[in-house]
Amino acid sequence: MKVIWNNQLVERSAVVIDMEDRGYQFADGIYEVIRVYNGSFFTMDKHIDRLFTGAKKIDLTLPFTKTELQKMLSDLIQINQIDTGNVYLQVTRGIAIPRNHVYPDVANVSPVFTASTTIVPRNQEKMNSGITAITLPDTRWLHCDIKSISLLGNIMAKNEAYKQGKEEAILYRDGKVTECSSSNVWMIKAGTVYTHPDGNLVLPGITKMVLLEVARKAGILVKEEAFTLEQLKSADEVFSSSTTAEAMPVIEIDGTAVGTGKPGPIVKQLQQLYLDAVEAQCGKIQ
Ligand SMILES: Cc1ncc(COP(=O)(O)O)c(C=O)c1O
Repeated sequence: MKVIWNNQLVERSAVVIDMEDRGYQFADGIYEVIRVYNGSFFTMDKHIDRLFTGAKKIDLTLPFTKTELQKMLSDLIQINQIDTGNVYLQVTRGIAIPRNHVYPDVANVSPVFTASTTIVPRNQEKMNSGITAITLPDTRWLHCDIKSISLLGNIMAKNEAYKQGKEEAILYRDGKVTECSSSNVWMIKAGTVYTHPDGNLVLPGITKMVLLEVARKAGILVKEEAFTLEQLKSADEVFSSSTTAEAMPVIEIDGTAVGTGKPGPIVKQLQQLYLDAVEAQCGKIQ
């Protein structure tokens, strides 16, 4: 398996990351996860746009144009023969000595770009059965719109869910549900679908963007409106969304069944609409 390191396709064993890399020292970098179906990228442009938007927010000059990045990632999945899988890519601000919180002058630093692939089939079984979750206070920072490689708050939450034998942590701040540790979260009440609006409290999920679009086109009533923990717990249906998990039913929260305790009709409809969007871009999914 090849990886990308500083715009070159190389063997993973050839990659050298400096101990003074600001990604390693400060988590000073951003990342993306892009899904591949049938050997084609799904919503690649949207992921690349989000990467460029995030880079701007942290004054990081990316070492490629959008077109150059597309070409490198396409070469990577081709050489690794990825049919269904993920591309993980990250860009750090690079190596700066001596260690200093202040961003180094762009003239004195080169961002470090790496990307790798994994083969990950669609987890249809999980999408049919749904997942269990706990709720936790959202103790993360206030720039959750940036897809930062600094994920300590997220991994602490996910690990707490794991310790309790559950699969996801649904986070809340000031009584309002924000998102999950590694996905956006949605609830359905009386036929209306709710999810937290974009802003600094949640990641503007690409899956969320696609789901909003297909739901509205299909005439499903959707509101980008924050909802409370109490509303979440009395919802008819709950689901999370992410690039890797698509629309994933949540069937139990804090030990109590959501609705009937089985994936409901609207999340199933949204799963199908999402799949239709995937197939329209990447071809028939077997
Ligand atoms: C905190 C968080 N929110 C939301 C998402 C969903 O984003 P996307 O749909 O772009 O994968 C992710 C995905 O990794 C995430 O980590």
